[in-house]
Amino acid sequence: MIDGHTRLYGLLGMPVGHSLSPALHNAAFSHFGINACYVPLPVAPSDISAAISAIKAFGFGGVNVTVPHKTTVIPFLDEIRGDAAALGAVNVISVEDGRLIGHNTDSTGFRRMIETHPVDFAGKPVAIIGAGGAAPAIVSAAAALGASDIVIVNRTLEKAQALIPLAQGVKNTTAISLSSQSVDSFIKNSIIIINATSLGLHSVDPLPVPVHLLTARHTVIDLIYKPPETPLLQAAGKRGAAIINGYGMLVYQALESFKIWTGLTPPASIMWDAGLGAFPD
Ligand code: ATR
Repeated sequence: MIDGHTRLYGLLGMPVGHSLSPALHNAAFSHFGINACYVPLPVAPSDISAAISAIKAFGFGGVNVTVPHKTTVIPFLDEIRGDAAALGAVNVISVEDGRLIGHNTDSTGFRRMIETHPVDFAGKPVAIIGAGGAAPAIVSAAAALGASDIVIVNRTLEKAQALIPLAQGVKNTTAISLSSQSVDSFIKNSIIIINATSLGLHSVDPLPVPVHLLTARHTVIDLIYKPPETPLLQAAGKRGAAIINGYGMLVYQALESFKIWTGLTPPASIMWDAGLGAFPD
């Protein structure tokens, strides 16, 4: 029920039309009986400054931030907290005493997804494919989960190299090009392989890793979750690998955002089921 007291929250990005975040957050607000509403906020890059001012002007409780604004919002915020500083990316803004605080819950979201499955990263070699928007949080999470070795594989080598400092405490971190001949041996030697590229979003996309090298000793995680069994996961599953899609990361980053805004922890199942119910056919 929207009335004169409804507090607004939203998702600032472009595009935002297919996002499941409104379903996840509105289910949690209604679970707690909070008079709030989470809305999509499509904002072009040229309007980001005005949009940030509007968060304060409209008295928003907070917003999530997604592509393409996760980095460009930073100069407009009053404080950057937690993981967001090291990652150089903000996916949550909270409003505290009129100040805008930037946070990042992507890395925690990934870690919590891994804990619930669970996958043991400790002492394991991990291959991360991709070095775009999603990858920094994954490199940082894999390091925090105790990976022994991390190889970051990306089409553009420089972007993979730039992520090496995020692998804190990891014995060996390497960046290689997707076209390098050494990709095969890194894939064979890794136990956990994570697709953080956008390959798989479109049906014509090539697979991001040479799937003929996968075996039952591999765990393959695809951050893409639509369809739930992506072409990569399908191929990996056929070869006996354990497979996980990225839906849990979406849910847990949302849950951590909600905690920041409200101090309340919704049952993960409330958000999980609401998102599944909003999946486009
Ligand atoms: P997102 O925010 O979804 O991660 P992004 O920042 O554009 O989007 O990153 C997309 C990732 O997929 C990048 O790692 C990109 O490789 P580059 O850094 O070289 O651009 C990777 N990617 C996209 N299309 C690709 C393709 N056709 N072949 C190989 N890698 C691709």
